Amino acid sequence: EKGNYRHFMQKEIFEQPTVVAQTLRSYIRPLEQQVALPQMDFDLSSISRVTIVACGTSFYAGMVAKYWFETFARVPVDLDFASEFRYRDPVLEDGGLALFISQSGETADTLAALRHAKSEGQKIAVVVNVPTSSMAREADLLLPTHAGPEIGVASTKAFSCQLAVLAALAAHLAVVKGKMTRDEERDIVEHLTETPAALNAALAHDKDIEAMAHLIAPARDVLYLGRGPDYPLALEGALKLKEISYIHAEGYASGEMKHGPIALIDEAVPVIVLAPSGPLFEKTVSNMQEVRARGGKIVLISDAEGLAEAGEGCMATIEMPKVHPLIAPLVYAVPVQLLAYHVACAKGTDVDQPRNLAKSVTVE
Ligand code: F6R
Repeated sequence: EKGNYRHFMQKEIFEQPTVVAQTLRSYIRPLEQQVALPQMDFDLSSISRVTIVACGTSFYAGMVAKYWFETFARVPVDLDFASEFRYRDPVLEDGGLALFISQSGETADTLAALRHAKSEGQKIAVVVNVPTSSMAREADLLLPTHAGPEIGVASTKAFSCQLAVLAALAAHLAVVKGKMTRDEERDIVEHLTETPAALNAALAHDKDIEAMAHLIAPARDVLYLGRGPDYPLALEGALKLKEISYIHAEGYASGEMKHGPIALIDEAVPVIVLAPSGPLFEKTVSNMQEVRARGGKIVLISDAEGLAEAGEGCMATIEMPKVHPLIAPLVYAVPVQLLAYHVACAKGTDVDQPRNLAKSVTVE
């Protein structure tokens, strides 16, 4: 039931602090301040490579995880769309872990990719929201998300729960690989534990986002920019907007702008910049100047520090809490979801049942 919400998507966006906390509870031992995974019948520390495969929004969660696995565990990661992976005859060496991410656990391309990886001798890990699904049954390591049933066709709470599980997996892999000390693990656990409060702080800006949605609603094209682990969030923001408001949107790595997409910039193309303050912020500020010099209108999503530095001259700004870079992708998911949601409402489209889309894609 939708309760007091207008749409399932809206309800599911607002459920995120609760379901992320619920999910994290099964991956964190609070007393020991340790990350814990379910039992597995293989030795995770011997994994030499991780191959991540998924579709759509779940793919973008995998793309964030690639940054985490490489940064924390120093394990090389391959990442592929399931529809590409299954037909490209990938090189899968012994000792590899193939990781599949899916809300439904039934997406045809992802399931076929899983079976292919299994037949090639990979250990199979699955991050999935439906515990009775085909993918859950076929996993060597089952990593459930506890988002509860997701009804809205556009995935929201499943995505943030996937990120929570993947962050825990990255930290655990780092620990068993000897790349993370006890103190660092404790620190990571502390930041993960702060996530639900940070999600609430992000959700508190719902009304600001609703108020600025009319600036985006008339656009024909919208660009989203992000860097590092926030680059996949730019892709996810663009996907959400396309799916439910039918506005053409593209996500780019901020540094790629000048290699082509900058040709699109004019007063009619809003540019949404996702940029938490931090070491990469200055680089993004120069990318914003490139946009502004061409008459582009910017919506900057950043924390107070970032907005103080670069908020002036933007068409609009959205303030996020200042968080550890590890959890920034989870927190920045909220404004991109809310923005897509409110733009779609402003346009009057069918938010929960977008045209041409189905919740579970069980055909190729
Ligand atoms: C986007 C969306 C889709 C799914 C994709 C994969 O909002 O919902 O892109 O993420 O079809 O579905 P699952 O995760 O069920 O494998």
